[in-house]
Amino acid sequence: MNQPEHQRRAYLQAMGIDVWLPRDAVETETPELVQDDTLAADGMDWSELRHCVADCRRCELATSRTNTVFGTGNQDADWMIIGEAPGAEEDRSGEPFVGRAGKMLDEMLRAIGQRRDSVFIANILKCRPPDNRDPKPSEAAECRAYLERQIALVQPKVILAAGKVAAQNLLGCNDPVGQMRGRPHELNGIPLVVTYHPAYLLRSPSQKHKSWSDLCLARRLVSDRAEAVT
Ligand code: URA
Repeated sequence: MNQPEHQRRAYLQAMGIDVWLPRDAVETETPELVQDDTLAADGMDWSELRHCVADCRRCELATSRTNTVFGTGNQDADWMIIGEAPGAEEDRSGEPFVGRAGKMLDEMLRAIGQRRDSVFIANILKCRPPDNRDPKPSEAAECRAYLERQIALVQPKVILAAGKVAAQNLLGCNDPVGQMRGRPHELNGIPLVVTYHPAYLLRSPSQKHKSWSDLCLARRLVSDRAEAVT
């Protein structure tokens, strides 16, 4: 197979392999191909992206993971749900949100007439942080290009950021969820709604009504966008 040069380089970078270029090649490269160590996921299709993630060795989580957790669901979804990172069960199965928090997420989706296979579900990180610690900023940064490419491929009508880690990383701020939820934000021109993480709702069921109102807000934004294009 004749693989485009930018893809070959992106695969090598994802695997943590230094990409050496002859000086004259560097000088004639277009700027977007000379990204020193920045992962060039732009332009990848689903299958290329999936391979790149499966082989990724861009941070130390590659040494402790069992499986990468690419994300799952409808590649043309109106809704994209973004959580924090795989936990133990997700690391074992390679699927996002399969544990107790996943059951709660399924309930939240059912409440708005969606299913796990009608939305697209991903995380800030594709690999499990040991002992379920929070993702390090450097890990989130290394993984960002994969998520950005998934968002660009799905082109959802709304992004639901589930929990503090997802919301802070996506919006680039340190505000608590309580301050970010309840109003629309935007990411790359796509409406984004912040809500509580399903695991938090399991611990604090009295907060479910707030999450319900966030889901209703997101549903309104989806229909506004659908109306705008008809
Ligand atoms: N929590 C998350 O944020 N993501 C998962 O995939 C599982 C639990």
